[in-house]
Amino acid sequence: MDEKIAELKEWIAGSDNIVFFGGAGVSTESGIPDFRSVDGLYHQKWKYPPETILSHTFFERMPEEYYRFHRQKLVIDGVQPNRAHKRLAELEAEGKLRAVITQNIDGLHQAAGSKKVLELHGSIWRAYCSRCRKPYPAEQMNHGEGVPRCSCGGVIRPDIVLYEEPLDQDILSEAVHYIRHAEILIVGGTSLNVYPAAGLINYYRGDKLVLINRSETPYDRYADLVIHANIGDVFSQI
Ligand code: OAD
Repeated sequence: MDEKIAELKEWIAGSDNIVFFGGAGVSTESGIPDFRSVDGLYHQKWKYPPETILSHTFFERMPEEYYRFHRQKLVIDGVQPNRAHKRLAELEAEGKLRAVITQNIDGLHQAAGSKKVLELHGSIWRAYCSRCRKPYPAEQMNHGEGVPRCSCGGVIRPDIVLYEEPLDQDILSEAVHYIRHAEILIVGGTSLNVYPAAGLINYYRGDKLVLINRSETPYDRYADLVIHANIGDVFSQI
């Protein structure tokens, strides 16, 4: 493990073209549960599985139930960026990291100071009307009661990508661009189970693909360096 971290450190020292691609595991050390770990969201008991609640159809049909889940499980008050978020922001400020590509919707990379953040699945900190698309502050949606409504009568929704919905093509293209031209691609805290996000790795053409994850992923065998550890521990050493 120490040798692997030393190698990663050396790679980072010699590069000004690093791209990071991450998921829910980046925020667990901030106190936000991930989706697929044994104690993650998908193992908790709700009337419906989270994948169902987080779908477009469910949001349209049962917005009350959606918002119950949203406010209890997606919005967690008082969370702060952890060592991984902070080190990534520093690497960008040092001119070494070009972009953070994230599947997370929690805004913690920006809170840590990262500037170039591509949010593949959107953010719970933005809201808009699902009928007329008027933007709204997220506060009432995240902390109010009942189903938030627009002046046009439409339901206000979070600017996140629900299941059954396509990803934003501009963000996806930009992510592909950064990954395709990266010298080092560090992938961390993601089970690499959800497509199309997980498939982004296939655009990487370099020879320094780093995977940092607590558990194994389907991409471990393609990586040049695999570190099975807590991402915060790794980032505090590089
Ligand atoms: P997952 O919950 O599928 O995977 C998180 C991964 O992070 C797991 O493999 C954990 O072992 C690992 N992990 C957890 N904490 C870690 C830590 N501190 N250090 C290192 N690894 C850690 O989350 P994602 O891959 O992000 O989509 O899931 C992708 C998408 O599935 C989410 O964006 C969300 C969900 O459904 C939507 O809501 C559209």
